[in-house]
Amino acid sequence: MSLILGIESSCDECSASVVRSEIPNADANPRFEVLSLSTFSQIELHQPFGGVVPEVASRNHLEQIEPVITDALTESGVSLADLDAIAVTHRPGLIGALLVGVTAAKALAYSAKKPLVPVHHLEGHLLSVFLSKQTELQFPAVFLLVSGGHTQLHWIEHPPAKWPETILEHSMFGRSIDDAAGEAFDKTAKIMGYPYPGGKWIDAGAQGGDSKAFALPRGLQNIGKNKDSIDFSFSGLKTAVMLQVQQLQSANQLEAARADLCASIQESILDSLLTKTFLLVKQKPTRSIVIVGGVSANSRLRDRMAKESPVPVFYPELKYCTDNAAMIAAIGAVRFEQGRSLGLQEYLKLNAFAF
Ligand code: KG4
Ligand code: ZN
Repeated sequence: MSLILGIESSCDECSASVVRSEIPNADANPRFEVLSLSTFSQIELHQPFGGVVPEVASRNHLEQIEPVITDALTESGVSLADLDAIAVTHRPGLIGALLVGVTAAKALAYSAKKPLVPVHHLEGHLLSVFLSKQTELQFPAVFLLVSGGHTQLHWIEHPPAKWPETILEHSMFGRSIDDAAGEAFDKTAKIMGYPYPGGKWIDAGAQGGDSKAFALPRGLQNIGKNKDSIDFSFSGLKTAVMLQVQQLQSANQLEAARADLCASIQESILDSLLTKTFLLVKQKPTRSIVIVGGVSANSRLRDRMAKESPVPVFYPELKYCTDNAAMIAAIGAVRFEQGRSLGLQEYLKLNAFAF
């Protein structure tokens, strides 16, 4: 049992959360109770620019980090003295934004005399599915991580208590060689005139549309020399959508075709995600599929998975799909129980890394 305060500031969400965790044994799924989650989303600040502006992000994290942490502690009813450790995202992300969280975490750990657990943001996303009780999720499992910045496929043999520090490197079987899936949604949404981040707008705009109306590219299709490739590519999609939009606009037909075009864009991205995921499931013994990260909120992805997946599929609750500190506290708890927390002499030297 441990009580961890998680801090997340890697991109455009400033978040803190207190999580109680229990890891019954190394072969069992961890159990988490989210006692509080306080998040300040910067989305509105970045919207006028059509994407995240790093300097705007770090300055706002500086303003928000203290109130967000205070809120999370107050809401949880847990005092600093009751905590076992403080976990903080120290990679990957925007360097200025990460440094705000890391510095705040160091100062808190120092003043409260608590150990510090530096964690990898993407490991947090993998853990987010366990923030709700998971009794049916069995390993080995294929994890599809689809966020705004990353698209990766992992095959993971054991529950989190057994994850080595190198889990991300050693379990990765596929990744995007260009844009991330979320990025493909956001960039095509921008071409369609939607605000940032555009994934949810394409999702909503596609309702009732015909996904076969427009033929859009599917990168690294499993034919020819790409027959066995588990990597993703969303190359060519933006240009194809831009040309289509220009054509429809000049014929004054964009509004009439909006739902069909949204549905076609969405299907092109989802076809890649599903094909590669199922290819890995075929190649490795797999008892579950887990889909995490912002794009896992996509409604059509969830519908298609329910119909097409050969094994049960698990998702985080919607509030844990996008960036949040509860998932950071969760991976922090796993690492803390593994004895990977840092004492004063070690964490004072801790740095943040963009990659
Ligand atoms: O995981 P996340 O919050 O941030 C990163 O760590 O990158 O993911 C954000 C991404 C954005 O690209 C956003 O457009 C996408 O998740 N997204 C969606 C949906 N909701 C969020 N994409 C497709 N359909 C959705 N419903
Ligand atoms: Zn993320």
